[in-house]
Amino acid sequence: MKKDFLCLSDWSGEELEEILDFARKLKTKRKQGEDHPLLAGKTLAMIFEKSSTRTRISFEAGMYQLGGHALFLDPGTTQIGRGEPLKDTARVLSRYLDGIMIRTFAQKDVEELAKWSDIPIINGLTDRYHPCQLMADLLTVMERRTDFRSLTYCWIGDGNNMANSWINAAAAFGFELRVATPPGYEPDQEVVAHAGRRGAHVSYGHDPFQAARGAHVLNTDVWASMGQESEQQERQKAFAGFQINRELVREADPEWMLLHCLPAHRGEEVTDEILESKQSVVFDQAENRLHVQKAILSRLMA
Ligand code: CP
Ligand code: NVA
Repeated sequence: MKKDFLCLSDWSGEELEEILDFARKLKTKRKQGEDHPLLAGKTLAMIFEKSSTRTRISFEAGMYQLGGHALFLDPGTTQIGRGEPLKDTARVLSRYLDGIMIRTFAQKDVEELAKWSDIPIINGLTDRYHPCQLMADLLTVMERRTDFRSLTYCWIGDGNNMANSWINAAAAFGFELRVATPPGYEPDQEVVAHAGRRGAHVSYGHDPFQAARGAHVLNTDVWASMGQESEQQERQKAFAGFQINRELVREADPEWMLLHCLPAHRGEEVTDEILESKQSVVFDQAENRLHVQKAILSRLMA
């Protein structure tokens, strides 16, 4: 039966770790100049209803490195943007392709696509989740800390798709996660409840300093995500005090590392100084999108 990659909580911690181990192997091989044509002759379509640099290019390069082909689909120049039902698109594309990656707004649209297609569907970001990004984030931490399960992670900022995905990751891997958001910007309550039922060690609050105290991994993201541009000014006010800066990192473990999925708004959620510091691992994190996605593609499509 086909398996999709829609949300981390559809996968067990062991399964996710297997994908991450494979990503490490693929990364090592790539660095040695070796690629394996695991997806020779296979085609992945990539549907983007929102902008992207990292996701689009890493999936496209990743498919090429695996011997396959990636096809960029712009809703504006396909019938998708003219209202053809997703269930029809899903059934038609299933007859041509071997997988679909989609970046869109509603998680339910990704689920609808998965329900009606015979080929694996990968979530390349929705308003609710960004699971491929989380895999890259976890690989970045694992490369530095073999004790990644016993570290303390904090999320400072918006309770958005990234925060929700971190909560799912905490549930899958059992590490401690502290989430600090301004009041009114908490993570999705269904995600919170689901993680609670799985026994996840996640705390929620409104004090970034408390969340950062002794933390090993500091994490943030933009204050206004794609689709929330009109709220930018209002959010800038609400998020004042939620910046990762020199004062905040002083609270953290001396060996802290900064993660940010990028793109970043320097001077808002993080200062330029911290983003450019030696303890910022954001460009390795961005690179790891390529390696983990190759592992996900291989797991689903090979
Ligand atoms: N982090 C991330 O998903 O970046 P893009 O929006 O550039 O794909
Ligand atoms: N939360 C951000 C992540 C971008 C990669 C957004 O959804 O725009």
